[in-house]
Amino acid sequence: MEQIYASVAQEFERVNQLIIEQLHSDVDMVENVGHYIVDAGGKRLRPLLALLSASALGDCNDEHVTFAAIIEFIHTATLLHDDVVDLSTLRRGRATANTKFGNAPSVLVGDFLYTRAFQLMVQLGNMSILTHMAEATNIIAEGEVLQLSQAGNVNMSEVQYLDVITRKTAILFAAACYGAATLSGEEEQNRNALKAFGLNLGIAFQMIDDVLDYDGIADAMGKNVGDDLTEGKVTLPLIHALRVASNAEQAVIRHAITEKSSDQIDQIIMIVRRCGSIDYTRARARHHYDLALEKLATLPAGKARDALERITELSINRNH
Ligand code: IPE
Ligand code: IPE
Ligand code: MG
Ligand code: MG
Repeated sequence: MEQIYASVAQEFERVNQLIIEQLHSDVDMVENVGHYIVDAGGKRLRPLLALLSASALGDCNDEHVTFAAIIEFIHTATLLHDDVVDLSTLRRGRATANTKFGNAPSVLVGDFLYTRAFQLMVQLGNMSILTHMAEATNIIAEGEVLQLSQAGNVNMSEVQYLDVITRKTAILFAAACYGAATLSGEEEQNRNALKAFGLNLGIAFQMIDDVLDYDGIADAMGKNVGDDLTEGKVTLPLIHALRVASNAEQAVIRHAITEKSSDQIDQIIMIVRRCGSIDYTRARARHHYDLALEKLATLPAGKARDALERITELSINRNH
């Protein structure tokens, strides 16, 4: 992964500078909460995708740098909001902002980051980008609401799950790639190939995130294991287990979902593993990674395309 960052090191450094610059506010609380989550790092995967998409099409310029920072701002805003909604206490290896500062500051500073992203977009002065990002962020918000409305639903289907994760996660991956291509003035075919690449990578990325919620190590992830169960969030490992587990095991899972309780997390982790639900979810992720790679193969060959391919491979085997 380090090699990949190094391939766009200068641009990446400028993205990070811009992120810090744009966190500026005369209101101390904005800066405190903003820096708290931003300084904790994160993988910065989405801005990396934007920069590499631009490079794959031949040119990564100042506008792409701004756009990459915009994408990370939007991502960070959704994390601040998401941790409030998910009652999460650990993020990027630290106490979540809601744990440290409270729910209200997290929600409001999330709004600050969201709106700052749109201010930066206006600076880009590109109506296509603005149109696309307005739609994308609206779909992401809808995705989080849809997920909330499905919490505690033991009958959630795999199709419904796919719909939720496409909206809440994959749309931003797709927008990072598609937006970069749009700024490059790229023809429709390459723009759409990058969009489909991002969408499938995003779907797979969220599936692996959902696997790690049952099968990961908190220290590596910087997030707690079992968070999804605590809020009755039904993800693919559970949907699969509910299909194949014994009646008694299904009852344990159903109870946890309807009660939004992670009391039985250890037992449920065992059930999910024994039922092959981790393997099944990984296989579904692999399917979407393959689709992503197929789309990537239609782009001009070169170092940046290779780097995108490598990110895709690394993402499926990640532990954080
Ligand atoms: C977390 O995204 C939210 C999901 C879509 C799973 P990341 O795993 O990219 O989070 P950071 O930015 O690296 O912390
Ligand atoms: C991703 O879902 C949330 C967003 C798209 C903001 P999760 O709720 O699974 O993400 P984590 O696990 O908290 O990072
Ligand atoms: Mg969450
Ligand atoms: Mg998660």
